[in-house]
Amino acid sequence: MMELDVVEGAATAQEGDALLLLVGSKQIPDLLSRTSILAEDAWRREAVTLLAGHGLVAARWLVLAGLGDGPVDAETCRRAAGAAVKAVREREVGRLVVDASGLSSPTDDMLAAQVQALVEGALSADYDFDRYRTRRARHTPLAQLRLVAPPGLSAVATTAARRGRAVAQAVNAARDLCNEPPNRLTPVDFAARIEALASDRRLTVTTLDRAAIAAEGMGALLAVAQGSHAEPRFVRADYRPAGVAKDAPPLVLVGKSVTFDTGGISLKPALDMERQKADMGGGAAVFGALTALLALDLPLAVTALFPIVENMPGGGATRPGDVVSTRSGQTVEILNTDAEGRLILADALSYARSLNPCAIIDLATLTGASSIVFGPVGIGMFATDTALADAFGHAEATAGERVWRLPLWPEYRDLLRSHVADLRNISTTVQQGSMMTAASFLHAFIGTEPWVHLDIYNTAWNEAEHPHLPKGPTASGTRLLVQFLIERAGSSARGIEG
Ligand code: BES
Ligand code: MN
Ligand code: ZN
Repeated sequence: MMELDVVEGAATAQEGDALLLLVGSKQIPDLLSRTSILAEDAWRREAVTLLAGHGLVAARWLVLAGLGDGPVDAETCRRAAGAAVKAVREREVGRLVVDASGLSSPTDDMLAAQVQALVEGALSADYDFDRYRTRRARHTPLAQLRLVAPPGLSAVATTAARRGRAVAQAVNAARDLCNEPPNRLTPVDFAARIEALASDRRLTVTTLDRAAIAAEGMGALLAVAQGSHAEPRFVRADYRPAGVAKDAPPLVLVGKSVTFDTGGISLKPALDMERQKADMGGGAAVFGALTALLALDLPLAVTALFPIVENMPGGGATRPGDVVSTRSGQTVEILNTDAEGRLILADALSYARSLNPCAIIDLATLTGASSIVFGPVGIGMFATDTALADAFGHAEATAGERVWRLPLWPEYRDLLRSHVADLRNISTTVQQGSMMTAASFLHAFIGTEPWVHLDIYNTAWNEAEHPHLPKGPTASGTRLLVQFLIERAGSSARGIEG
């Protein structure tokens, strides 16, 4: 785990360090006003100016990161820190010293959000998935980060910086899982990764194999798994920290975990199919959230559920037209085997309901249509409960992931009527409105409990290299989910909400 310390006062940097100064349009740091080297536009948002530190500061590198002339919100801080780290990554930096002493915020909460985002942006920009490269040099991650807090605010900054580190570690863990090639992360491998978290006593992990899944009556999950040689798994992880009643109604998190989605017999086109290795992105986000719950010891009862399968067109595969029985008792006519996420989630959601949950939250790379609706920006949210939806809306500002609520109108459910079973797994309108019909299918397996569904496909994969983000899997939904948990833990600790 990366070392983190928070100090107050003058930025103390040593030889070997990189010192990061944040440059706004109005306040040029003291240090720089005494010199003539400040590049003209170093203050612009996401601008990075890299200077050798000699003479000016003790650090080997001085990195100026622009904040722009708009509000210095969390996202601005995240991008500034991320872009700065990208600039020094390959330069053997021993320690990164982030000088946040000049940040001024009207409230402690806003300062906390800025500091959290600085640390998170720095650590998530330092990410590189290099475990299968044997020729090119491996990346050495930043080992130490020092944050220089504004005067009198080191306590606020310390809590915030720890949150930032926990969020970044959750995001990087989720990216690792999504980056893993599908032959190296089978359902059994994914289950083993979750089981490994149970070395911590606050977490209890139970894994169901194919026979146990059948005994649970999860016919829809098995229908997806049956075209693959890979054994399916259903993993349940119960996080119960000290001080939380063992019988407290848990918050249940569900993550779609398809380790590879070929589409099955309704085969996908070849172009970009390799990206379907990240079709377990929902499960990866939930996994990341578990690591953050543990790192921050959040006082919440949380149960995480992972329906884990591979969707392949093998000889035993489900055919379009097959009818299966779900755990809930409802029957489903499978008309498109590529609409598999909703099938495994149907069984997982009905299992979630059996746990007497205070709320159910699922994350899934569910529809290609999410990308038609939102492009690569923002997460579509469906909810049966406005307070729960609003909590995600609130988490968005600090998390830096946008979320927008979409309808669960009953008319969509009508489009899922089958002539031969209770439901069909794709709408009669096929692609039209398919983000809503997919969510409505899930809704059929939910009762009166507060439920939020996040469709994270469109933001799951970064097309182009960003200054602060690498190309490839983004760990979509992870920051939003972790921030939601942090805020919920905060309000339940204050007794506002259970
Ligand atoms: N894993 C996919 C989501 C997806 C779709 C990712 C397209 C990348 C590109 C999901 O399982 C899926 O295939 N959804 C289908 C559903 C359709 C068959 C009703 C979709 O949205 O195209
Ligand atoms: Mn699919
Ligand atoms: Zn899928």
